[in-house]
Amino acid sequence: MTQTLTLRRPDDWHLHLRDGEMLKAVLPETARHFARAIIMPNLVPPVVTGAQAAAYRDRILAALPEDMRFEPLMTLYLTEDTDPADVAAAAASGLIKAVKLYPAGATTNSASGVRDFDKVRGVLEKMAEIGLTLCVHGEVTDPEVDIFDRETVFIDRVLDPLRRVTPGLRVVMEHITTSGAADYVRGSDTDLGATITAHHLIINRNHILVGGIKPHYYCLPVAKRESHRVALVGAATSGDARFFLGTDSAPHTDPNKESACGCAGCFTATNTMSLVAEVFDHEGALDKLEGFCSLNGPAFYRLPANEERITLEKGAPVSYPAHIVSGEGPVTVFDPGFPLHWRVA
Ligand code: DOR
Ligand code: ZN
Repeated sequence: MTQTLTLRRPDDWHLHLRDGEMLKAVLPETARHFARAIIMPNLVPPVVTGAQAAAYRDRILAALPEDMRFEPLMTLYLTEDTDPADVAAAAASGLIKAVKLYPAGATTNSASGVRDFDKVRGVLEKMAEIGLTLCVHGEVTDPEVDIFDRETVFIDRVLDPLRRVTPGLRVVMEHITTSGAADYVRGSDTDLGATITAHHLIINRNHILVGGIKPHYYCLPVAKRESHRVALVGAATSGDARFFLGTDSAPHTDPNKESACGCAGCFTATNTMSLVAEVFDHEGALDKLEGFCSLNGPAFYRLPANEERITLEKGAPVSYPAHIVSGEGPVTVFDPGFPLHWRVA
């Protein structure tokens, strides 16, 4: 007998859709399963103003196949020149649901990010006042700090001080990769949430480095040691409403990944629901899957949960294409390295 599980339609609280040909190729992969997604603004050039976010939203909706429904939840890329009034207007009109903080140089297309946090104080205070979420890429960029410690140091040096001086600021610590980050969220009030990706629930740093370098497992923040992966699975499956799914699905073409200086990002949009269902099933936590994928995120963002339902079915291993085709080149679909038994019906 097939085992089935019905959930409210899920959302993705951290997604890279890119633009142009890549957008056309990856958008249906997300829209097939997800009702909404928080859209990352790290285009080249970045989405900095409300007008740019509105134009990007239009390009996303124009790229959406006619038979699909999907709502892009837009964000602005925080720079040292961001105007608090522009942010407030974009939030008031319903256009944006968050502002994204990239420490300058932390990851793909983050050169326009923040160096001096005093310069963004006015924006953050405005955001705290209006209840607009700050999404944070939580890594320091100090070259002295080991890449495996950058998230931990960010919490101590940047995130905790920033939250202390901006009471009421709602923050999502994105794509957390350490037990310390999960503990920090658990020990905070409900103004702090965290997204967790499917791939960080599955890989540790050995997957990237043992037996030959695997560029398709390289992303930022980089996967940490196994004890951290286990802690992330514990947080995701705990039922704590401050943890929710944000895939960070980040398409790069194969030549850009399989290179002497390969790009960071795992492309999971195609098989995320199978990946997370497999992980939750393995933990005996399928009863927590709907919270993680469909309820906790909207609750944090103070949005209604989706009314539509999806059904997951467990059966013979599901196969996914090794890559999707885009006008810019092939994009490899994340391979968990074990069979997936859950499919979206
Ligand atoms: O692995 C990543 N890829 N991490 C990020 O923070 C950015 C993303 C991208 O845009 O490719
Ligand atoms: Zn991202």
